[in-house]
Amino acid sequence: MKEGIKDPKILSAYEKAAKEGIDPRCIPKKLDGPVPIGDEINYPIYPQSDNDNWKFLYDRQTDFLPGRACNEYLEGIEKLKFTPDKIPALKDLSNIFRQATGWRIARVPSLIDPNDFFELLRQKIFPSTDYIRGTDELDYTPAPDCFHDMFGHMPLLTNKNFASFYQTFGEAALNAEGMDSKYLETFHWFTVEFGLIKNPDELRIYGAGILSSKEEVQHSLSDAVEVVDFNVEKIIHQDYDVWHLQPILFAIESFEQLEEGFRDWTKSKGLK
Ligand SMILES: [Fe+2]
Repeated sequence: MKEGIKDPKILSAYEKAAKEGIDPRCIPKKLDGPVPIGDEINYPIYPQSDNDNWKFLYDRQTDFLPGRACNEYLEGIEKLKFTPDKIPALKDLSNIFRQATGWRIARVPSLIDPNDFFELLRQKIFPSTDYIRGTDELDYTPAPDCFHDMFGHMPLLTNKNFASFYQTFGEAALNAEGMDSKYLETFHWFTVEFGLIKNPDELRIYGAGILSSKEEVQHSLSDAVEVVDFNVEKIIHQDYDVWHLQPILFAIESFEQLEEGFRDWTKSKGLK
């Protein structure tokens, strides 16, 4: 083969994924060096269309929150003081976290390798993207973006019990192997991404995957969903399909219950 001409049989992960129909943005990438944290994070020059997309998503989801999002999440929204008209600066959000729970934010370029992700959590650092979905993906994007990371995940990281649980999760996931890794992935899905909470009198949402999606917010509190009481063993054995709305969700009593229940389980498994 002539120099400079690529062998068509050798495909990069991106090319292979595109060929196989997997969105290449959904393939985790190993970090190849340190990532900027807190004050080291520069604010990108966003085109107006990016800020418009943020505003559209922010306004739409904010309208859904009263009576649906849990109190701890709403308190987090207050603390973070998101700017509705432009994408917030990760550096500013990181400083708020530091004061609230001692956590910081790192800017990551894409979906990152699970071990890189767990290692950052272990260090009380939340990895966030700073780019936003395009106008053609406002209702749904399979890939991570800063609306999901900021609006979905960050408010609860101002809550001490949730933040402590998430750090333990990072430690346990780094120590886990085989089926335990799979169990932890399932647990993350049904809590961090799709968790419900009994906020004293009624069912509310705390999962980031629900709170950053219009369709999931409407679906999760409807009669179409069977709600099961929090139980670590039940959760880790529950099947789920990432491509469809969830028929079964789990409800915690409180974030203390989430923190303690998970800690007991990791101890019993020797993961902590
Ligand atoms: Fe997420």
